[in-house]
Amino acid sequence: MEGRMLHVVKGQEKSVRVMGRDGRPAKVISVTSGKGGVGKSSVTSNLALGLAAKGARVLLIDGDFGLANLDIMFDLRSHRTVDEVLRGEVTIREVVVTVADGVDVLPASSGLHGMTSLRMEDKVRYLDAITELELDYDYFLIDTGAGISDEVTWLNSRADEIVLVATPEPTSLADAYALIKVMSQKHKIKRYRLLVNQVKSEAEALRVFQHLTGVTDRFLNVTVDFFGFVLWDDLWTHSIRQRKPILSAFPGSQSAKRFLELADTIKRSGFSRRTEGPPHFFKTLMGHA
Ligand SMILES: Nc1ncnc2c1ncn2[C@@H]1O[C@H](COP(=O)(O)OP(=O)(O)OP(=O)(O)O)[C@@H](O)[C@H]1O
Ligand SMILES: [Mg+2]
Repeated sequence: MEGRMLHVVKGQEKSVRVMGRDGRPAKVISVTSGKGGVGKSSVTSNLALGLAAKGARVLLIDGDFGLANLDIMFDLRSHRTVDEVLRGEVTIREVVVTVADGVDVLPASSGLHGMTSLRMEDKVRYLDAITELELDYDYFLIDTGAGISDEVTWLNSRADEIVLVATPEPTSLADAYALIKVMSQKHKIKRYRLLVNQVKSEAEALRVFQHLTGVTDRFLNVTVDFFGFVLWDDLWTHSIRQRKPILSAFPGSQSAKRFLELADTIKRSGFSRRTEGPPHFFKTLMGHA
């Protein structure tokens, strides 16, 4: 099987064929949300560990520039920065940090820029360099920022699969709907997988799913599949304090088992490359120029 990734080369789009491990392309899955703080970074990190436990090689990409989500999650204290790559001092490979067997992290924390935002062109240049790593991994998991900003929607538009994280809170649902609406209209993305986090039961997760699909079916021409749910678990507080994802801090816990099951779902249910239409990031980039 062959996949396609887009390069920006001197202001022009170039499509190249890339092959992943075992002759298959790495699958690009973005984990995103409308509302912030719903558990994207936690979920993405644990999914990566779950997939690695099943034998996959995963590159976990921090897509929220300047905020160091994954640095916090894995207690990364020093590594090369986005700025160094942009200045051409180091390669993208040198920024990658191995955090567990089978899991590498590509941090997005920026040296000079600190908390201030990078220009969109620089983000594109940085992320575009990831293409050179695609041969080394089975999955790229992108931990995006929250909301409907161009940056978030652009990152999602580059992914083969979009996992949308939502909680039962009404604001989270409303914001999930808003994100789907923008993604479907601006980027023509028609398929989403919903992961309901912080629920008390599977029934509650299914109610959230029905609620969301009730409105998306009515007003938007999209498909939202139920990917799964993660229960509210007090252990999360302890795992965050230890600066470790729950799967490594409490491997025997129910939550850890949940992520192993979700990793199985990803492997079995054929999360696949999107075949319809090219990614649209170039247009978005031009919008920022
Ligand atoms: N299932 C859960 N049970 C209990 N606490 C949880 C659960 N999932 C996430 N949390 C907690 O919710 C908080 C927010 O999680 P996280 O940082 O992963 O969210 P996020 O969506 O990445 O946030 P941001 O939008 O700011 O990047 C963390 O303190 C985390 O421990
Ligand atoms: Mg986060």
